[in-house]
Amino acid sequence: MTSPGPVRRWLAQRRPSADRFPYDAVVTAYQRHGKHFVPHDWTHVLSAARDRLPQLNATNTRHLSAFLSCALDKVDGTYDYRSYLGLPLLQLPGPDRPKGTAAQQFARRDRLHAILLTDLIAFELRAAFDEHTPLPQMRPTPAMTTKRLRHALRAAMPALRRLSLVEHTASSSQATLLRRVVATVTMDLTPEDRRALQISMLPVHTVHDEWMFIRVLQAFETTFALLATDLTDVITAVETGQPSRAASKLSAAASLLRESASLWPLLATIQPAAFHAFRTFTEGASAVQSRHYKIVESLCRTPRTARLDSPAYLSVPEVRTAIMHGQVSLDDALNAAQQSAPTPVLAAAMREFAAAIHQWRQTHYRLAVRILGPEHSGTGYTEGTPYLRDARQEPVFHHRHPPDRMPEQEV
Ligand code: HEM
Repeated sequence: MTSPGPVRRWLAQRRPSADRFPYDAVVTAYQRHGKHFVPHDWTHVLSAARDRLPQLNATNTRHLSAFLSCALDKVDGTYDYRSYLGLPLLQLPGPDRPKGTAAQQFARRDRLHAILLTDLIAFELRAAFDEHTPLPQMRPTPAMTTKRLRHALRAAMPALRRLSLVEHTASSSQATLLRRVVATVTMDLTPEDRRALQISMLPVHTVHDEWMFIRVLQAFETTFALLATDLTDVITAVETGQPSRAASKLSAAASLLRESASLWPLLATIQPAAFHAFRTFTEGASAVQSRHYKIVESLCRTPRTARLDSPAYLSVPEVRTAIMHGQVSLDDALNAAQQSAPTPVLAAAMREFAAAIHQWRQTHYRLAVRILGPEHSGTGYTEGTPYLRDARQEPVFHHRHPPDRMPEQEV
């Protein structure tokens, strides 16, 4: 169906350049076969390309090397949540990146969120009209596509507005708005954005809904990454005696988390049969390995030993090590500042943030039960939904402030 000729020709050059690597051909082949089924011919030449990396000019080899690691993860035996989602290929905001200002980090989150969802919208529109669109199995019905597009637009809109990529929209029809969003965002993409979007979509199978699953997870990861940075700033503000600043940052973080809950109704349009069809081949990748989620959790409150020694943290060894080496949480910072009770305004922000996290967990749990059922249904890391049922009860902060009950997100 596809031949690795372009990679062979690249390898045959005397001085191949990373910039001219045939990403298009590789990604097309991966999307046609599904990563789990990519023929040996392909993985063989890609391994050969990786062996050539040390001989290339330094420019952009890091990017190519990261891409090859994600593309070859299954044959290398390194396949996991990060490589499945291509997280090293997306420039997530947050602690892994050289620190920009808080405003730059926020804009980075918005931009990534917006382009990931616009790519999803473009994919759904294309699949509705063009039978040659990748991942041809189990296409959704037109009614389901319309619903999915409505939710995708709703989830993308706040970031698109903040970035001034879409103006006031009250009178536009959904179809007009979708076309406008795709056209505007596509024109605004830098070559780096295009490349990142392209190479971060390596589904394991050829089922239509996996595209959405990957983009939604990547969008959540983008927000968690920013929240991890926000919490670090909140802790610094407490440590330097600025509780009002800490409160306003934490409250803004809670708003963003609530806003990103609009991704749930979008994901809820996943067809359970489609999810089960590709989930067989995602084994080895579980969101229990999400570093940013665990960084956020552990920056609020140092986890109990039992949780630290459970798959929750054994699946994120770097985060666990940082905690064991004395990572300071917001609770710790408050204790050290000898404020057995935070100022009222900070206490309110803590309640708000805790409520947003509880709401997130509850909605996630409900969706997981709907798709997997209430009993043993995990990926081999945990027992599945029963694990989520219990994990949702973990206090976000110490018991000083019982969380306000938030309305649940409809999914
Ligand atoms: C079809 C939708 C989903 C289902 C059925 C599902 C199911 C599960 C299950 C069963 C677990 C337990 C770990 C395991 O056994 O692998 C889990 C954990 C987790 N999931 Fe999901 N999930 C879904 C969507 C998402 C999304 C969109 C995110 C966003 C990043 C996410 C983030 C997480 C996180 C962070 C954990 C770890 C929670 C903890 O350790 O306390 N999940 N999920």
